[in-house]
Amino acid sequence: MNKTMMAALLLTGALTTTAQTEPIRIDLQQKGAVVSPNLFGIFFEEISHAGDGGLYAELVQNRGFEEHVLPSGMTWREGRAWAPDAMNYEHRNNRRWNIPWNLDEKKMTGWRVSGDKATVTGQVVEAAAALHQNTPHAMQLTIKKVQKGGRAVLANTGYWGIGLKAGERYDLRFYVKSSNYKGTITARLTDGTTHQSLGTATFAPKSLKGWTELTATLTAGGTAAKGELHLEFDKAGTVLVDYVSLFPQATFKGRKNGQRADVAQMLVDLHPRFMRWPGGCIVEGATYENRVKWKETLGDPMTRRGEWDLWGYRATWGMGYHEFLQFCEDLQMDAMFVNNAGMSCSVRNGDFVSSDADMEAVVQDFRDAIDYALGDPARNKWAKMRADAGHPKPFPLKYVEIGNENVGPEYVTHFNYIFKRLKAEYPQITFINTLGHTDPLLDQVPGQYMVDPHWYRNPDFFFANNHLFDDAPRTHDIYVGEYACNGGVGAGNLLAALSEAAFIMGMERNSDVVKMTSYAPLFENENRRDWPCNLIHINSSEVYGRASYYVQQMAAEHRATYNVYVSEPTTEGKAEPFRPGTIGLGSYATQCDYKDVRLTTADGQVRSVSPGAFKSQRGEWKVQGDVISQSSNEQLTMALLPGFSSDSYTLELKARKTGGMEGFFVYYGMDDSGRNGFAANIGGWNNRTTAIQPIQRGRANDVLGRRARQTVDTGRWYDVKLVVTPMSATLYVDGQETTVARPSTPTRHFCQTGYDEQSGELIVKVVNATDRPYRRSFAISSAAVVMPTGRVVTLSGNAQDENTFEQPTRLAPVESRFGKFARQFDYEFAPMSFTVMRVKVSQ
Ligand code: AHR
Repeated sequence: MNKTMMAALLLTGALTTTAQTEPIRIDLQQKGAVVSPNLFGIFFEEISHAGDGGLYAELVQNRGFEEHVLPSGMTWREGRAWAPDAMNYEHRNNRRWNIPWNLDEKKMTGWRVSGDKATVTGQVVEAAAALHQNTPHAMQLTIKKVQKGGRAVLANTGYWGIGLKAGERYDLRFYVKSSNYKGTITARLTDGTTHQSLGTATFAPKSLKGWTELTATLTAGGTAAKGELHLEFDKAGTVLVDYVSLFPQATFKGRKNGQRADVAQMLVDLHPRFMRWPGGCIVEGATYENRVKWKETLGDPMTRRGEWDLWGYRATWGMGYHEFLQFCEDLQMDAMFVNNAGMSCSVRNGDFVSSDADMEAVVQDFRDAIDYALGDPARNKWAKMRADAGHPKPFPLKYVEIGNENVGPEYVTHFNYIFKRLKAEYPQITFINTLGHTDPLLDQVPGQYMVDPHWYRNPDFFFANNHLFDDAPRTHDIYVGEYACNGGVGAGNLLAALSEAAFIMGMERNSDVVKMTSYAPLFENENRRDWPCNLIHINSSEVYGRASYYVQQMAAEHRATYNVYVSEPTTEGKAEPFRPGTIGLGSYATQCDYKDVRLTTADGQVRSVSPGAFKSQRGEWKVQGDVISQSSNEQLTMALLPGFSSDSYTLELKARKTGGMEGFFVYYGMDDSGRNGFAANIGGWNNRTTAIQPIQRGRANDVLGRRARQTVDTGRWYDVKLVVTPMSATLYVDGQETTVARPSTPTRHFCQTGYDEQSGELIVKVVNATDRPYRRSFAISSAAVVMPTGRVVTLSGNAQDENTFEQPTRLAPVESRFGKFARQFDYEFAPMSFTVMRVKVSQ
């Protein structure tokens, strides 16, 4: 709880009237699931400069001049980096994955070369004798002429500015080499805007023949958000500069090579029970060679080669495996390490290894990682490395995840291979499988492990899925390792946060099976957003949490020991009928033909729609005779029928797949822009499932109604019929009713109740995600005494509100006292709010 936000706020609303509806009944004696103590943790991935330029306290960007280096295993051709030709493990094709790669632009990332009464050029070169074999590049300064009082300047602008604080001390370390430079070198902190000097250290090295390490501690003489570090040379010569590092001494817990104290504190305040590291997709890599190789993240940071991060920049891995484990220990949380399962990301290159020798190497890599964290230094070389790095005792590694978001039969083979060996050797570790909790492939994976489903969706999904786990199979414990409301909610507004609160309440209620959760992604540097919504925003000198951050914090601070019965976990709203709209044809990465399109309107009129009447929105559409064909491999292709708009009709057509991954789309209720409406997705999800999906802002998101198993064969004509009414859409394929979609009932009121054994309090959590106050009566049974006064914590605002650097706590919880708790009491919840009430009770 943000103490400064503590307010003497009394009741949220004066309760002069009685709530109109039936009371929400709470029974303390009817115990529900025990709430997992590990329910709330954090997930860190190097994305949006979460580490470099975020949590990791290094202030110099591109310190080793390696930014331009190609992703491992990729080759440069015609301005692009190309992955090796290889088979994709999921789609069994060769994706020839590639990305634009501008070598020259990348080289100067973070750096500027200039002359003040001096002539100088700078270029990043491969040094003849590298400072370290892992990092062969360096900056070569060619200083032609320096006038009296002049200087050649190599400036680093940090991660969009170097944050400096008056009076704080900064450790500088850099390397220089030259056969002919005879002058001095001045390191200078500047404020970056007026170039006012905020501290200097001058070096007069006797000889620079070999690589020479220069170090100093600089005390900042002022505060700056856009500070710079300058290295200044006052004579002519040719100079190589490498590994320039500037570190605040005041890191979190004073750790060398550690974390930014203010950023780390934001995590402390979330009370996380575990941390998942290092990813995310980067664990998989864009190619197998590009995966995170944890062994390369150890040792002196100067020797760490780093790797291109598939989120679009080079990760230095300054915050490596050892620092992660140390950080877990510092925050008294369990460590969860994620390692590559022998396959790269299937939406990128998706190449993989499969020979026994390669798979044994994969298993050995897992073993070495576990031994590094837990092993005996006297017996194991990796454990000895840990001890040599200053930590003889084991680290708190408790969970190991085998891969990230890997899917399909190939993953099952890999998981079984790795898991069988490791589980026998490390019974104390909980292993995690990346398949979703309802994946039928789990039948082919014997043993005890957790599963890790992920969801990034819009608010409707999270509100609608408060009940998602009520019927979930109880065969495997579930770790919801990544979830966030990030569709159509700006950079993450209050509506997003409230939908997550509703989803969390469902997970808490089902904590007998949902044992762990973590929001994702954790951080973004304000100058670099690789993902739509991120929990904590950072710049060079400030940090703030979004509304979702406070939801996470409130959930963790008010976790009950066990749940107790509540009569209305959700209160249903009224379903809005489907809106009238037009029809359309389409597909997803699939080529199709359509013909014989017929519309029967509500008054019984039958209309044949000629293929030429459809207008292409996306894809390659062509009419030949009575057939309209889509020939591109684009996702979500679409041809709409202009001028038609209705909510009651029957659509019939014939569809045939001619190539590609899936089946066909038939759209209904579409608006003219083609961005909103519905699609019957026949043979979707890799040609395995048929279901009806809402299309919102151009994206197909959730599913309405039943998912049916279905595979569409190439070359065969299918009869498709869709009967649309304002309250239903029924899909028939080849005369068989396949699924029915009905408008969803928007549930926007949620209640979750539990008992905290430590404090003797009933905890009542309520989400009111409407723009009206929500007044309810509560009836508590099985309580001998209910204390009238208790704490209430409320997060509220307007749906679209977001925190910003200017208003970092515009949305933040406010604590008040409520004096009218009783066995029967009324409360009015603020519009758009998440409220936690703590009621002292004795039973
Ligand atoms: O959190 C961002 C990305 O989302 C993760 O890297 C990946 O696991 C998921 O697709």
